[in-house]
This record gives sequence, C-alpha cells and structure tokens, in this order.
Amino acid sequence: MKNLIIANWKMNPSSQAEAKVIFDAIREGVKGINAAASARGFGEPTEVVVCPPAVYLYASVFGEGVVSMGAQNVYFEDKGAFTGEISAEMIKDLGAEYVIIGHSERRKYFGETDEVINKKIIRALEVGLKVIFCIGETQEEHDAGKKNEVLDRQIKLGLASVSDFGFSASNFAVAYEPVWAIGTGNNCGVGETKQTLSYIKSLLTLSGVEGQEVRILYGGSVKSENSGAYIKEAGANGLLVGGASLNAEEFIKILESAE
Ligand code: PGA
Repeated sequence: MKNLIIANWKMNPSSQAEAKVIFDAIREGVKGINAAASARGFGEPTEVVVCPPAVYLYASVFGEGVVSMGAQNVYFEDKGAFTGEISAEMIKDLGAEYVIIGHSERRKYFGETDEVINKKIIRALEVGLKVIFCIGETQEEHDAGKKNEVLDRQIKLGLASVSDFGFSASNFAVAYEPVWAIGTGNNCGVGETKQTLSYIKSLLTLSGVEGQEVRILYGGSVKSENSGAYIKEAGANGLLVGGASLNAEEFIKILESAE
C-alpha cells in the first residue's frame, strides 16, 4: 500500500505568486525523493497531494507533475443557484484528483453536519474524485471518554450508502484528526494513535468495506520531528499536514521521514 501524504494549505498563502513558489519547491523536492528511491531500487514512492485554496488549483499555476492536486471542499449539488459554491465537476475539470471532505474546521465554522458531509462524499465519488474523509473528536469529547462513540457516528453517518456510489479502497482515504491536535502543537501520542487507527479500520470493515485496504492517515500538528513515528510505529498509511505543509523545506523533510 502506497503511503499518502497530503498538504492542506487551508486559506493560505495570500497570493498566486507565493503559492507557486511553495508548490514548485515541493515538486522539486518530491522529484528528488523519487529519484533517490528508484536509485535504491525498492519501495513504492509516497503519493503526494497538495490541496491549496480552490482559486490556485488551475493547471496554469501548478502544471502537470509528480504531485497530485486536491480541493479542500466541494458542494454536493451539480450546478445552479448556490452562490459561492464550487461543484465536484468544476474541481475535476481543473485537473484535481482529490478532495478533502469533513475537515473539522468545516464542521466547526461552517456548520457542516454528518449528513451534509455524506452528500458531499457521494457527489465527489459520483464525479470520480478521490475523497479524503476527515474525522476526529474534540477535546471535550476526548476528555469525556467519548472518542470511539464520536468516530462511530461520524463514520456511520458520513459513509451511509457510499458503497452504492463507487466507494472503494483506491478512491478513498480516512484522515483521523483529533480536533484538539490541529494547529495546537499538541499532537496525539503514537500509542493512542495506533489504537485509534485500528479502531477506525474495524469500523470501516463494519460499514461494508474491507477496512484493512483503506488508507488511514493521521493529522494534527504533524512536523518532521514526529511524522516518521506515525507511519513507522503507529501504522498510519499517510499524513494530513496543515501548517507545516506551507514550508516546503519542512514538508519535504516530512516526506523523507516516511521513506
Ligand atoms: P495542522 O493541521 O497540521 O496545522 O495541525 C492539520 C489539518 O488541519 O489538516
């Protein structure tokens, strides 16, 4: 199974020019890592996806390359009077391959419910986008011992009937992102992450998909100092990286740590 490492730039940077500088540096770094891996003659290269703000997604900014592109959000209707929204067809038409759905910031600041997230996942799969489905408990839920209950609900409602719409292990990944670990510097411990990732795999199996085959990523204050341990010790099949992905040098170190 190829590792999957995603850069989530959130609402950054503030200009196309800056976006291009970061992206070009990431692409060159990935080329170097891939060349070194093939010279060693073993191992599958990590799949790298950059998810910039949607306005930077078009091919003229980033071009074709060794890095795939993804959007950070999508709307579930195909077209019409939905001011400000962007459809799955539009994202696909720009050449993006992936879309992040259910990020905790969308749930918290934009009121996205499990039901809305479910509709977005279905629409993205229908159009042929690959989905990165984010789940995770808040600090309060974690402290109250409700983590498993929350993950259970998010998976059950978020993935309701997705198997009827082309859901497969190759076009879908889950990112476990404890809300308390996002942007706080307080990353989840490797032991706890390991347990939670295997719990998530068991939940996926129950919802009709072979959970062992779906890539499960960790996200939340990932840095080059902790990234390798999530892949090598906690058994994550990849990472969702926010803040650290805006620094190309740091992001490349994260990619190297997964090799
Ligand atoms: P962070 O964000 O790496 O800045 O904690 C992760 C995310 O929100 O996906």
